[in-house]
Amino acid sequence: MTTATVAVPKAAPKRETHSSQVKMSTRGVKVFYGDSQALYGIDLDIIENEVIAFIGPSGCGKSTFLRCLNRMNDTITGCRVEGDVTLDGNDIYAPSLDVVLLRAQVGIVFQKPNPFPKSIYENIAYGPRLHGLAKRRAELDEVVESSLQRAGLWGEVKDRLDQPGTSLSGGQQQRLCIARTIAVSPEVILMDEPCSALDPIATAKIEQLIDELSASYTIAMVTHNMQQAARVAHKTAFFHMGDMVEVGDTDKIFTNPRDQRTHDYITGRFG
Ligand SMILES: Nc1ncnc2c1ncn2[C@@H]1O[C@H](COP(=O)(O)OP(=O)(O)OP(=O)(O)O)[C@@H](O)[C@H]1O
Ligand SMILES: [Mg+2]
Repeated sequence: MTTATVAVPKAAPKRETHSSQVKMSTRGVKVFYGDSQALYGIDLDIIENEVIAFIGPSGCGKSTFLRCLNRMNDTITGCRVEGDVTLDGNDIYAPSLDVVLLRAQVGIVFQKPNPFPKSIYENIAYGPRLHGLAKRRAELDEVVESSLQRAGLWGEVKDRLDQPGTSLSGGQQQRLCIARTIAVSPEVILMDEPCSALDPIATAKIEQLIDELSASYTIAMVTHNMQQAARVAHKTAFFHMGDMVEVGDTDKIFTNPRDQRTHDYITGRFG
């Protein structure tokens, strides 16, 4: 394999991680939408407190795979998932599993910010109340403040908590959605192209936030932007036509990929 030479993103320094603990693991994951197969047996380990990026051409199955990690595919009619997915070694597809609780442990942030049609305060308070994490007003106030602090939004909204979440800018709304996810004490945060609807300044804020959050959470994100993967991800996994072609340190994937398909993608030869 020749080293890629064209417009290859250079991996940026990120928060150092020292864990090698597997947080989530998938083995032989296949996904079908009716008769059509979207994933062909994905084996992946996601390491605790790392940021892992999923990259690859449109339609290769990145979002489908992400949704397997917190059973969001259950909500799609006709979608069937085979194989094993574990969180801390426990099967998340076990029939006895509480899916609502799972989706608090493994939260998801989507491409388009989607605040509830409620106040900024209520956007954050809703989840902790639902899960019984905070009952009294003072406890809720504390969760709301600390979640907004962690999402880097507190300073901008602390004097307008009663205003609608939808009154915020796109970048602020996305940080609100991240705060909402954080509020229910997740262990893993999934993000599906979290910056693709944002301008470069809002994107930079979210990227910095992702780096900070990875100290406390494990993060798996889909991105179309290879520079973004290089900036924020410790590991990068390349998907192609329903397969995961390779995964490794972001540096290595972008400078010395093992597979020709990865090489062609990162050098812009297809996709
Ligand atoms: N709800 C659905 N019903 C039927 N087929 C679907 C559904 N969602 C995805 N697919 C199909 O599964 C395959 C993988 O799609 P997926 O959305 O996971 O790709 P992706 O890599 O996230 O693409 P993009 O980069 O465009 O977001 C595609 O062929 C797509 O058409
Ligand atoms: Mg997608």
